[in-house]
Amino acid sequence: MVSPLILVNFKSYREGTGDNANRIGSAAEIVMQESGVTIGIAPQFTELHSFCKHYEIPVYAQHIDPVEGAFTGYVPAFTIQTAGCTGTLINHSEHRLSIADIEATIAVAKFHHLESVVCTNNVAVSAAAASFDSTYIAIEPPELINSHISVAKADPDIIEGTVDAVHKINPGVKVLCGAGIQSGECVKTALSLGADGVLLASSVVTAKDPKAVLRELVSLL
Ligand code: G3P
Repeated sequence: MVSPLILVNFKSYREGTGDNANRIGSAAEIVMQESGVTIGIAPQFTELHSFCKHYEIPVYAQHIDPVEGAFTGYVPAFTIQTAGCTGTLINHSEHRLSIADIEATIAVAKFHHLESVVCTNNVAVSAAAASFDSTYIAIEPPELINSHISVAKADPDIIEGTVDAVHKINPGVKVLCGAGIQSGECVKTALSLGADGVLLASSVVTAKDPKAVLRELVSLL
């Protein structure tokens, strides 16, 4: 059986920067080794290379730009591939793109052998993004992000609806769900609704003891 993916987005939280970021990275590595569940992290750009070098966990960027050449301040796909990343988030709720840019960004990720995790806000956008053949669609109702109300409890229909719509368009695309994910029960419910994993941030990144929260997240798998 393939392990579900638990993907922790550090966003731009101070608690996910510098030494704090290392604390979360090493907690993720320990819990992944203990449990056998794949735990990925999406730290800030400044930390990508050192995380890829020093940890055995999959590392994702939070965004890339579909450009290559002289583009000051942009993040071409090859830079994160060279850093050693597994993949990238695309179109996060806090970094929205146009549909044309989503398509182009998935294409450059694929060209550089990077996984693409495309964040979406509803079933229709999920279906559209699935037609571009991303690795994952991550459905996250924006109103539940950082609300501490779990999408798995508050809106199970959006998870099931996304899984159905995505698989009708492209059965090869995996589905994550996110927003308010905080417990083993949330993860178990998400998987029972057809998701292949979860995308989360605040419950781990801002926790006093990120390792304890990660252990709780995998506790029912
Ligand atoms: O990228 C994950 C995110 O948007 C969900 O955030 O804090 O509700 O887990 P949070």
